[in-house]
Amino acid sequence: MSIKTEDRIFRLDNKYFSYILYADKQNILRHLYYGNPLNDFEVDDLTYIARDWSNTYYNANEEKEHIYEDNYNSMASHVEVASDGNNDKKGSTICIHQKDGSFYTDFRYESYRIYQGAPKSDVLPYIHSKDCESIEFTLRDILSHAKMLLTFTIHEDSPVITRSTELFNDSDDSIDLNRIMSLTLDLSNTELDLFNFHGDWALERFVERTKVPHGTTVISSRYGRSSHVENPFCILATPNSNENYGECYGFNLLWSGNFRFEVTKGRYQDIRVNYGIEDTNFSYLLKPNESIELPQAIFSYSSNGLNHLSQSFHDFIRNHIVPEGCFGKYRPIIFNSWEGCFMDFTTDSIINYMNSAKEIGAELFVLDDGWFGHRNDDTSSLGDWYVNTKKIDLKKVIDHCHNIGMKFGLWFEPEMINADSDLYKAHPEYVLGHRMSEMCLGRHQFVLDTANDNAVTDVVKQVNSILDTYDIDYVKWDNNREVSDNFSQYLNRDRQESVDYLMTLGTYRMYREIVESHPSIFFEGCASGGGKFDLGVLRYFPQIWCSDETDPVQRLYIQYGTGYGYPLSTISSHVSKCPVTSYQSKSNIAFFGTYGYEFNPTKLTDSEKEELKENASRYHRIHQDVILEGDMYRLSSPFDSNYFCEFSVSKNKDKALLLFANILKEGNYYRFVKLPGLDPDKMYINSYDNKVRSGNYYANVGMNFIRWLNEFDTILVEFEEVKE
Ligand code: GLA
Repeated sequence: MSIKTEDRIFRLDNKYFSYILYADKQNILRHLYYGNPLNDFEVDDLTYIARDWSNTYYNANEEKEHIYEDNYNSMASHVEVASDGNNDKKGSTICIHQKDGSFYTDFRYESYRIYQGAPKSDVLPYIHSKDCESIEFTLRDILSHAKMLLTFTIHEDSPVITRSTELFNDSDDSIDLNRIMSLTLDLSNTELDLFNFHGDWALERFVERTKVPHGTTVISSRYGRSSHVENPFCILATPNSNENYGECYGFNLLWSGNFRFEVTKGRYQDIRVNYGIEDTNFSYLLKPNESIELPQAIFSYSSNGLNHLSQSFHDFIRNHIVPEGCFGKYRPIIFNSWEGCFMDFTTDSIINYMNSAKEIGAELFVLDDGWFGHRNDDTSSLGDWYVNTKKIDLKKVIDHCHNIGMKFGLWFEPEMINADSDLYKAHPEYVLGHRMSEMCLGRHQFVLDTANDNAVTDVVKQVNSILDTYDIDYVKWDNNREVSDNFSQYLNRDRQESVDYLMTLGTYRMYREIVESHPSIFFEGCASGGGKFDLGVLRYFPQIWCSDETDPVQRLYIQYGTGYGYPLSTISSHVSKCPVTSYQSKSNIAFFGTYGYEFNPTKLTDSEKEELKENASRYHRIHQDVILEGDMYRLSSPFDSNYFCEFSVSKNKDKALLLFANILKEGNYYRFVKLPGLDPDKMYINSYDNKVRSGNYYANVGMNFIRWLNEFDTILVEFEEVKE
């Protein structure tokens, strides 16, 4: 890995890519190259643009026209920071509403520094890493004099680049910031497909592939969270690319609030990506001596197709995003009470659940919604984080759980508040929104104004008090509605247009103050299922409940789509009571995620119990190395075919697991599934026909699943190295 500079050319290289920038003679930070490692090049080649009418400028002092140096063309050149002051109309990185009333924004390069390590933040989630190198550029706006620190961080062992941005006001006047993107990337490709991951509640992250059209295409969320509707993870890929072939670029953001992924195909047929916080209805008043930090963008390039791109993100998220120490740690099999009894439980019924859950191999019992305030349905008590002692003896339940050898987890929804709560009665100003006759509700609840420091402090105190009083091993952190009524009763007039940004910061403060003061507790994120499946959340909570949809067939699609950007170790998935498939198929599907249970365990038949116990022993045998820590390959997409097929191989290539799921009933067709990723020279026994074959054979011939397959039949095959 290296970051080198010579003659104002800056090279970021490792074995996966070269990324090259140039501070030109006008002090514009130009983007020269991003792709496979490059040996030699000439600036002139990479900047050349046929001369046209945007190659010149007029110097008013000299009253003379000049030709820009270094082939700069104010309409077409590729840049790192696109400004709103010139002919470049492909979308700016930053826009300042200047004191003179104009939007003339123009950032020029001043200096750089190279250092070991990566930028950190006190307010935002950031990548953690011991072994990386960064280059920080300083740029300054001509009119406002705002100072931008733009930092790129690279690792030896990863194709992923991190880009961090901070804007300072070291002038005497405030600066009115209208837009600031975390990433601008100019690509010389003229044809690309866009993959976005869209959906709705219980239908999250469905894969959509479309050709990037001329003009600007926007994937965004204005729901106050990353949302069910779109996901911050996006891909651009050459039109002929597939899982194993072709150039592709992936993008994600360490952010959980509103975001905007903007892709513009311009008049020169090249493509620009602008990516960051949503700028609609956004502005930020940067007072003298203040700074604003923007979410880190991570992006990656693969010349070998989408599987490789996904694997790069999976490794990066496991190594540098989820909390340090989580990756590689054993995760107990979770049993969650929600779909079994919802809020209808007593101390005794929960104890019965625990006993039955233990029998099928569950190792951590989660008491979901309904244990606090006076909550028996979803109309009350959010905000009152104290035990409903009339309903449940929490200490007795926890002691029982620990006595039978299980860990214990509890559900919270700290960012929300019901009108029917003590907190609301005492502090109606904690609610986001105008206090008018009509205030939007979602699931009967308001959104807590997390831009309000007092609201955050109060709720953190309550949650921490429960976590300090009771012996709790796990927390499920829910978030069950979208943000609306974007008005903070706490903020001054000049901060209202930053409310989403400030609320997201407030939420991160809650995460930090609760998570960091309880390092031994394992946290799982949730937002009506997967409404907040993003890197900001994953920085604090290593896994996220992937969807409220537990129908295993629907889950095939949801988990498949989620896996493009996120490792299986983050995709929380449970076997539920949904009757559309056998328990065996449900377990097989949940296995390609974190694995757990969610039904009434006291109602299982003996044979169902046996099936589930068998899965628990498979979990111990293979899940950690292969699913949580291995390399996952997508082999067949349920979006494009009748089959879902994923294959995951342990890092040391001694074990692997294949899931093949058939959707509609089908006859005796040839179904050869070729298996990449095994060691070609090793021999492996497979649990389908118990034959021993080499990795080479599995890669080139594969498994033939020729047989009759009914709807929703699944085949799970284990592979294990056979040593001589
Ligand atoms: C959300 C979650 C569910 C469950 C309920 C409880 O919908 O996604 O798993 O926790 O809330 O109210």
